Amino acid sequence: MLAHHIVKYIGRTCTAIAIGGFVSGAAFAQQAADSVAPEGASQGSFTGMSPRITAAFEAKDAGKPVIARNWMVAAANPHAVQAGADVLARGGTAADALVAVQAMLGLVEPQSSGLGGGAFLVWYDAASGRLTTLDGRETAPLAVTPQLFQDDQGVPLGFFDAVVGGRSVGTPGTPALMAAAHEKWGNQPWAELLAPSVALAEKGFAVSPRLAGLVADDAERLATSETTASYFMPNGTPVQAGDTLKNPDYARTVAAMAERGVEAFYTGDIARDIVGAVQGATNPGVLSEVDLSIYRVKERDALCAPYHGHEVCGMGPPSSGALAVGQILGLLENADLSAGPADADVLRLIGDASRLAFADRGRYVADTDYVPVPVTGMLDPSYLAERAKLLQGDDALPEVTAGAPAFDHALNFADDISIELPSTSHVSIVDSMGNVASMTTTIENGFGSRLMVRGFLLNNELTDFSFRSHTDGVPIANRVEPGKRPRSSMAPTIVMKDGAPVLAVGSPGGSRIIGYVAGAIIAHLDWGMDVQQAAALPHAINRFGPYDLEEGTDAAAMADALMGLGYEVNTRALTSGLHMISIGDDLRGGADPRREGIALGE
Ligand code: GLY
Repeated sequence: MLAHHIVKYIGRTCTAIAIGGFVSGAAFAQQAADSVAPEGASQGSFTGMSPRITAAFEAKDAGKPVIARNWMVAAANPHAVQAGADVLARGGTAADALVAVQAMLGLVEPQSSGLGGGAFLVWYDAASGRLTTLDGRETAPLAVTPQLFQDDQGVPLGFFDAVVGGRSVGTPGTPALMAAAHEKWGNQPWAELLAPSVALAEKGFAVSPRLAGLVADDAERLATSETTASYFMPNGTPVQAGDTLKNPDYARTVAAMAERGVEAFYTGDIARDIVGAVQGATNPGVLSEVDLSIYRVKERDALCAPYHGHEVCGMGPPSSGALAVGQILGLLENADLSAGPADADVLRLIGDASRLAFADRGRYVADTDYVPVPVTGMLDPSYLAERAKLLQGDDALPEVTAGAPAFDHALNFADDISIELPSTSHVSIVDSMGNVASMTTTIENGFGSRLMVRGFLLNNELTDFSFRSHTDGVPIANRVEPGKRPRSSMAPTIVMKDGAPVLAVGSPGGSRIIGYVAGAIIAHLDWGMDVQQAAALPHAINRFGPYDLEEGTDAAAMADALMGLGYEVNTRALTSGLHMISIGDDLRGGADPRREGIALGE
């Protein structure tokens, strides 16, 4: 048994090496905000877990994928992976397993996802050969106005002035998504899937180093709520790695859901307490019991984009994930990437393709139930081929603006101004029937709104809306509206080839999720890396012009070459959380070395 597992430490500093001349104001705002409170990486130490968990950590440390034949689960915490593996080993489906994994993540990785948040699921159904998605995104309360995140003069609030408290809390969707996935595709009793989380919440779990570090870093904001502070900082002291943390409130909440179904969450005492916490906060919000009682998961068609003989399929609006990943790959369809990630021109092509995709995303993408989005036009190969001509030069594009994808609707939107910080969690699962689940799940910022109720944290997902509703009188597509779902960057993905799934992938990381996922797909499909190599590949990420290079890695060594091409360059921690499973003659699982997760299979 491994007594002490070490995950490499990656620091949290953000160092500007050089300043270029072409960064927009919004981009600078984003960069500045990103340096405030990323959900950084940490050392991991898990003791006393099963030999199989130990072996999975050893494979990860050795840079090797976990290999299995029947089923596989990859997620951000070994307790959650174990809960999913137990379900899969007794013949449960990937939908059953994701219920167990999510219930456990909400306990042991509460800062990233949980019952108080939202999630997107991409599902491959082996029996029908069909792909579909479930949208469990939070909704804006019916009583919001477009001025939700503005002061009396209409000036946008500071980011954390908006985040902390009740104002940012959207109607949670994760419990409803768990129930919908189980109802559609599960074969195990619902209550049995939740039982391990109830038991561990009662018994207590060892605080992970990552959770302890994040609590210490966020102590001031956590202290703004008495309930939150008393859980994460009992007697005023932040919990330490290895402390046993019991969460009897969480046990009671999950037990209520086990007994009475998800209605126990959306109606009755729990709903009343959620509303009480939101409306009673010092920065109150307008969430009501009606919002909770009318919440519905939406099944939407998967959005697929062709890439090098594959179909890359994911979550369409309200997420920008599949659109942006699909655009990046589509723009690169005919580019020569064969020189690999240590070549400056390859990084120029990928980086500027990403900038072009982010420009379209900022102009056009929002909740399609509220605004028209040119989804088909944005992924049209002829539109992307035309736009890819912009990549034919030798240097960084001096300026990038949104294109004009074909659409049968008048479009006049201003560019979005919203800030997304890295947080969130990703789960990939393949079951023994061949079903595949790729789910990205979040409460938005690390620790969400910092409001805790009934043992779980409430999201701050509404800050994924644009704080401004208009620019110079032109409406912003992703503005706040009652009932609307805020635009996301989450990109849970299933890659298909010849009608069969070959890869499940996704990551946390705010709007960098898009670059992490596109990069992992390129690493796997184009550069032949296995899933563990692809998850560990040093990051070079471009969204708005400046290149973010992962400090202390080979990517950072590309700084001079990229500056020579005209890019501004930042070296910084880039804490993705890629969890990947490749599906072929066998199953291969990879877990991001920047976080505490593993892959486990049989
Ligand atoms: N709040 C993270 C996302 O939805 O992209």
